[in-house]
Amino acid sequence: MHQQSTRRLFGTIFAAAFAAFLPSQARGQAVESKTAEEVFKNITQLKGTPADQVMPAMQFVAASLGVECNFCHVQGKMDLDDKPAKKTAREMMAMTAAINKNSFAGRLQVTCYSCHRGATRPVSIPAVLDSDPPAHPDERTATPAAAAPSVDEILGKYVAALGGAEAIRKVTSRMQKGAIVAGGNEMPIEVFTKAPNKRVSVTHTPNGESFTAFDGAAGWLGSTGQPPRDMSPAEAGAAGLDAEFYLALRLQEIFPQLRRGRPEQIAGVECQTLMGSAPGRPAVRLYFDAKSGLLVRTVRYAETPLGRNPTQIDYADYREIDGVKIPFRWTLARPNGRFTIQIAEAKVNVPVEDGKFAKPAADAKEAK
Ligand code: HEC
Ligand code: HEC
Repeated sequence: MHQQSTRRLFGTIFAAAFAAFLPSQARGQAVESKTAEEVFKNITQLKGTPADQVMPAMQFVAASLGVECNFCHVQGKMDLDDKPAKKTAREMMAMTAAINKNSFAGRLQVTCYSCHRGATRPVSIPAVLDSDPPAHPDERTATPAAAAPSVDEILGKYVAALGGAEAIRKVTSRMQKGAIVAGGNEMPIEVFTKAPNKRVSVTHTPNGESFTAFDGAAGWLGSTGQPPRDMSPAEAGAAGLDAEFYLALRLQEIFPQLRRGRPEQIAGVECQTLMGSAPGRPAVRLYFDAKSGLLVRTVRYAETPLGRNPTQIDYADYREIDGVKIPFRWTLARPNGRFTIQIAEAKVNVPVEDGKFAKPAADAKEAK
């Protein structure tokens, strides 16, 4: 039981689970260019959507209702319609599409989560107050808008807090070593990054090594004993952003319509927020500590036909090496799992071969 849940946890974290749900004849094929009904056996509602969005959509549904896949599916036979919940879910997909079409001009405004909020049975009656209302009314709305810094000011402060543009540009590669902690398990991890946008993380699991990589143009995932697989366009968009070595200097270039969001607090810390979106990139919301200027949180959103799946990364333990600050700890959280990476040792400007980021040939990997 414990081992199984651990495997599921790491499966979702490293996103290696996807292939397991594909019909055997579709495994190993490029799924990106196909539609859901070309790859899966029993699709009616998701017809016409890209096949690689079926799993993200399923994760969205499961997270919205707070259930596991087997709430709707017979384990191992996802195409069967034996469970009533799956039939209901289909009707709900049609209903949700109709609500958005009829009331919101076709925009994905209402989703499964709007009603379900993590439960199978939506609540339709407001809750009563279970404690006295706060004595002081919320005064955040009273903050004068004029005091808010501009996008340029927020970014300028961030770059300065890291050490300044000149110092940032002097660093061209990084090697970090530490541990990844998930579900109470700890494993060694190494992260190699290289300008302008190469990144690979290597986790040393009990069963071998696990890779998440972006080679500058495309992303791939691999683990010992299995052929490596290409990331879906959405996964690659996210991995490509993680790999941006000079992200702080390039944010405005990457997201030309970067705009200010409402200030928000994270654990009592006042933050300025920026929101950005661009073709081929996940939409992001960035949180900057209003005092220090440092980036403390990124939330990125993966589109699915049913709603957006959020991934939140919290950065902490900023330390300076060779004049530039980098976070030594970050926590990545999704609706279905989270992990923390704590770096113990980091070196900059060490030579890192480009081969380190390249996807190995399938058979070479299998022979290993
Ligand atoms: C609330 C119900 C529900 C949950 C939970 C759910 N699914 Fe589904 N799933 C569906 C429905 C409904 C369809 C059919 C969609 C359609 O008709 O287009 C489907 C279709 C699929 C298919 C395509 C099967 C085929 O060959 O036709 C796969 C694979 C799948 N789901 C996997 C999963 C996985 C993995 C999870 C857990 C992360 C999951 N589902 C969670 C309702 C659910
Ligand atoms: C407008 C609100 C609303 C939206 C949007 C919505 N649902 Fe529901 N859903 C409900 C309500 C209300 C019920 C409970 C009906 C009942 O109790 O008979 C329900 C019940 C269900 C059930 C049956 C649960 C059980 O206990 O068997 C499933 C499965 C389900 N919804 C899936 C979905 C999925 C998947 C989506 C998104 C595609 C979705 N719903 C979107 C309101 C909604």
